[in-house]
Amino acid sequence: VTEIEQVLLNIMKNAAQAISGTEMSRQPQITVRTRVSGEMAVIDIEDNGPGMDESIRLRVFEPFFSTKEVGVGTGLGLSVAYAIITNRHHGSIEVQSRLGEGSCFTLRLPLQGRG
Ligand SMILES: Nc1ncnc2c1ncn2[C@@H]1O[C@H](COP(=O)(O)OP(=O)(O)O)[C@@H](O)[C@H]1O
Ligand SMILES: [Mg+2]
Repeated sequence: VTEIEQVLLNIMKNAAQAISGTEMSRQPQITVRTRVSGEMAVIDIEDNGPGMDESIRLRVFEPFFSTKEVGVGTGLGLSVAYAIITNRHHGSIEVQSRLGEGSCFTLRLPLQGRG
């Protein structure tokens, strides 16, 4: 598994947990979109799960930050993703969310490799 695959797996696992963790009136969905924007490859991973409030959203990339029960979450998935994308691949990772509507993680990676 490559580093980028590891990142995508971590984000998709969170999305899967988010959409399966709550009772939902709508059809649970994970949408992955890729596009090229200038010199960057852009990947969106969006779910229509419960979303997160701003105090959580701001902390998701912190090591050991988790809202999951002990044994379910380690709080490391997104901090590892952040390190891989920013430090090792010179890209960026951010998240938008609306409580009750879902979350969207956006990765941007330089197409020229490791710059
Ligand atoms: N798709 C998502 N929807 C809602 N909350 C999320 C989502 N992805 C991440 N989070 C929040 O970010 C926290 C940190 O995620 P992560 O670093 O992967 O750790 P873990 O999954 O082990 O808790 C999660 O505990 C959760 O609160
Ligand atoms: Mg996780």
